[in-house]
Amino acid sequence: MKDEAGFTFYDLAPGEDSFRDAVLAGLARPRKAIPCKYLYDERGSALFEQICRLPEYYPTRTEIKILQENAEDIAAQVGPHARIIEFGSGASHKARILLQALDRPLAYLAVDISREHLREAAAALAQDFPEVAVVALCADYSGPFTLPPLPGPAGRRLGFFPGSTIGNFKPGAAVAFLANCAHILGPGGEMLIGVDLKKESAVLDAAYNDRAGVTAAFNLNLFARINRELDADLDLDAFEHVAFYSESKGRVEIYIRSLADQQAKIAGHRFAFAAGELIHTEYSYKYGVEEFRDLAARAGFHLLDTWTDRDDLFSLHYFRRR
Ligand code: AVI
Repeated sequence: MKDEAGFTFYDLAPGEDSFRDAVLAGLARPRKAIPCKYLYDERGSALFEQICRLPEYYPTRTEIKILQENAEDIAAQVGPHARIIEFGSGASHKARILLQALDRPLAYLAVDISREHLREAAAALAQDFPEVAVVALCADYSGPFTLPPLPGPAGRRLGFFPGSTIGNFKPGAAVAFLANCAHILGPGGEMLIGVDLKKESAVLDAAYNDRAGVTAAFNLNLFARINRELDADLDLDAFEHVAFYSESKGRVEIYIRSLADQQAKIAGHRFAFAAGELIHTEYSYKYGVEEFRDLAARAGFHLLDTWTDRDDLFSLHYFRRR
């Protein structure tokens, strides 16, 4: 624990070995795959911020509009003196909208895996909301985790999980994650979750294959990161970004495709890639409103309210622990 410019910082980030181990294990599998949380080093987080501003990537601006248009309603649901815990806080843009709307919020705890990004966002937020106690926790929240003590008197906690990051978990893992949130939030705990909705595949294909190539750069940065951090010699020009919506699975599937038969050395190990071979890097599940309600119920949450945009692109759900 460390006190920094206006906020308290806790570092529980996994060591560098976890990235090395995940890459070596993932590339040794018959169907190569690397967990999507490794997309978010400093460069990956900055590229993701750019994705959020792309014309084709509707989720960010749509969710912000839903938050802004329903701020009063949301604030009434949450009530005064809330203590907010945001999972995967990134630049904390959406938390600002929430903090501005709420009635005298007491504390804001930001959890993110990208250390410097988290520090910058927490410092800026602490400066702009001097009456809110700001805590930053650098941690991998995709597995089981516990929280540092929250400032302020014990009381109701609000989990905030915007951006449809829940869609990056497989449904079983999403239930496990939400069940852990229910446990952490305690009795009466509530959750505000942003969830991207099922829609026409053309809209989804465009959102994950933007014309400026930012999503491709974000995806391929994973291989650049392997070169930077794991003493590797992957030929970045010999791989390409692939993303498409599978209607039957209800998810966007994202891969890196090898453009040739080739080999690479990574952390002293040699790997072969066949021409056309796909290395899986991310899923982005899309849900119907009812479908997501049922999923959250399996984790012990019952629905209090749902807000959507007028085109039914995106949804924001408010749950309470049963
Ligand atoms: C963070 N997450 C919700 C994004 C998504 O849409 O699944 C990650 C992303 N990957 C490519 N574009 C955006």
